Amino acid sequence: LRNKGIERPVIIGVAADSGCGKSTFLRRVNEIFGTKVSQSHTPQGELVTVICLDDFHTLDRKGRAEKKVTALHPEANNFELMYQQIAALKEGHDIMKPIYNHQTGLIDPPELIQPNHIVVIEGLHPWYDSRMKQLLDFTVYLDISDEVKVAWKIQRDMAERGHKLENILASIESRKPDFQQYIDPQKKDAIAVIQVLPTQLIPDDKEKKVLRVRFIQREGIPGFQPVYLYDEGSTIDWIPCGRKLTCSYPGIKFHYGPDNWYNHDVSILEVDGNFDKLEELIYIESHLNNTSTKFYGEITQQLLRNASAPGSNNGTGLFQVLIALKIRQLYEELTGKNIAPVLV
Ligand code: ADP
Ligand code: G6P
Repeated sequence: LRNKGIERPVIIGVAADSGCGKSTFLRRVNEIFGTKVSQSHTPQGELVTVICLDDFHTLDRKGRAEKKVTALHPEANNFELMYQQIAALKEGHDIMKPIYNHQTGLIDPPELIQPNHIVVIEGLHPWYDSRMKQLLDFTVYLDISDEVKVAWKIQRDMAERGHKLENILASIESRKPDFQQYIDPQKKDAIAVIQVLPTQLIPDDKEKKVLRVRFIQREGIPGFQPVYLYDEGSTIDWIPCGRKLTCSYPGIKFHYGPDNWYNHDVSILEVDGNFDKLEELIYIESHLNNTSTKFYGEITQQLLRNASAPGSNNGTGLFQVLIALKIRQLYEELTGKNIAPVLV
């Protein structure tokens, strides 16, 4: 390991239901590290390797259909192998990781994966097995409310893939019990949660184009200093619209303050509404503290670089960038290394 310059692989867990923005988030993480990523089944860059936990499915598509279990059910996943292999990577060993082929629904021959500076494991169950928690240096949960999940699925599967509305709704319904039992509880002990809710700015909004997004940040975690607005520990409501920020209907509203999340002390930063002009985010950025940026404007620059990615004009994109910066800082603290910021 040492001869590859890896002191200690840093392991990050990213949990969410499928179609909830994991790939979009990981694209933003890779942008922060600024290195090219391979297009292979398991994306690998100079610093970051991203393992999709669907690879630990024990039952292929046919097997799940026969046994009538969803991909979310523990019976369809090999948690023992997941733990063994991630632990091995963390200790610096190569692994032969299975591959789940999303096109065919079959389990393909395994591939060689080597340890990397940062290994992200993303999927449905990164820390469902409690032993996994000890391996993970940082945990992120993308918590998308049902209303918003439905809107995103309709957008992608109906508009882009031509699926029928009733099939989309039926598929969401059939996954719900397992989702609630096996996936959702992981949000209780994540270090960072991005919660996506319908807006409160438009009464009875049907479109779900305007979102209320909350960044839930655990207090007291070594190497993680929550981002705050104005004054750490105070409770603040902020409407930045006026001379400095262009806001069309229904405007933008921020909130910040200490809170409680499943018996954990947290700080919550919240934004409801869309940003009209991304360049003006620099004004928002100037009021955020503990952001782990390396220069003033880095957050705005990152959002502008990925302007076309889903969520760049609202809290989902902003908070994804903030978490990516936190991952960079944690990596630097754990390894003593310095990552040069990406300049354009
Ligand atoms: P996953 O990797 O979890 O399956 P993706 O990042 O591929 O999710 O996102 C799936 C789809 O969900 C996107 O194509 C987009 O339609 C929608 N989506 C994801 N994140 C957002 C967002 N922040 N705002 C709006 N739509 C989003
Ligand atoms: C993966 C995803 C699941 C999805 C499944 C498709 O495992 O993580 O969220 O449901 O693929 O399964 P299917 O049985 O529809 O092929």
